[in-house]
Amino acid sequence: MKIINYKKRKPLSGRNEFLTGQEISDIYKIKVYQPGKPIEEVKREFGLKNVIKLASNENPLGPSPKAVEAIRGYASKINFYPDGGSYYLKKALGEKLGLKEENIILGNGSDEVISLITRIFLQKGDQAIMGDPSFLMYKIDAQLSQAKVASVPLKNFRLDLPEMSKAISSKTKLIFISNPNNPTGTIITEDEVEHFLKDVPPRILTVFDEAYYEYVEDANYPQSIDLLDKNSNIIILRTFSKIYGLAGLRVGYGIGSPEVIDLLNKARPPFNVNSLAQVAALASLEDEDQVNQSKSLVREGKEFLYSNLRRLKVSFIPTQANFILIKIGKKAKDV
Ligand SMILES: Cc1ncc(COP(=O)(O)O)c(C=O)c1O
Repeated sequence: MKIINYKKRKPLSGRNEFLTGQEISDIYKIKVYQPGKPIEEVKREFGLKNVIKLASNENPLGPSPKAVEAIRGYASKINFYPDGGSYYLKKALGEKLGLKEENIILGNGSDEVISLITRIFLQKGDQAIMGDPSFLMYKIDAQLSQAKVASVPLKNFRLDLPEMSKAISSKTKLIFISNPNNPTGTIITEDEVEHFLKDVPPRILTVFDEAYYEYVEDANYPQSIDLLDKNSNIIILRTFSKIYGLAGLRVGYGIGSPEVIDLLNKARPPFNVNSLAQVAALASLEDEDQVNQSKSLVREGKEFLYSNLRRLKVSFIPTQANFILIKIGKKAKDV
């Protein structure tokens, strides 16, 4: 009998012939998204005990106790597939937002809704417009559809909507607006959005990614759901990962016209939102205290950081989200 010592085996390697021709350079060029390292990994790597993670913009308060209770209550039923239509969660969201269930699609995080959008709306040679820098998944997903990416530099750390509308061409299918923008924390205002949408032809879908919606305090922030009546070519993304503290469960959603939602449902895997995520998200919606506590914590944290960064003469961009962009004047990696 031959005994294989797996420990000594070299990593498997070898170039396959899966992708040929043009695709090879396009797909291999895509940079893999590098998420912030998990706390446990940093502890192991550097032999540390107490680690506070600043990447990924998670909620340090943790999830709502109501969500934890709901997960416990449901845990013994995970032998069943989840409700593929997420009936109760969609119903509760619809009631909260004043919309019908046909206006909502749930995703395995809003990340998944972004990939459903690019999968349905972008084909080879199409163009997607986005800010630079902005949330990285827009670019990665667009490239996976072999679309061209028009990256429009920010102006004063804000999305430059006039330049983004100038970038529209006959090939444009999607425009991504991260509002607040990740990584700057800046917003674009209601007036700016309304003005911008006048330049966008009905055949183009504009994505308003509002992952940090609940944290925004600026009165000029657009109430994008009100724009849906007049603009059926927009979709709004929100998530339970940030203020609701459910990042580990992966649940986010898109809000749009029934036509857009129907199209996205064609690409949605049947059980994309797991049952624990559904019950936890549902319970979280009922916990306004947790949301208010998270808002206060971020408000206090921002004041603390603003005053101490000023004291240390470190420049920063005032933020509408739960993260902040600061200038450290050295290579971030070294710091
Ligand atoms: C702007 C933006 N959109 C989407 C996401 C993805 O969030 P989710 O956890 O819902 O997939 C993030 C996460 O960091 C984000 O910053």
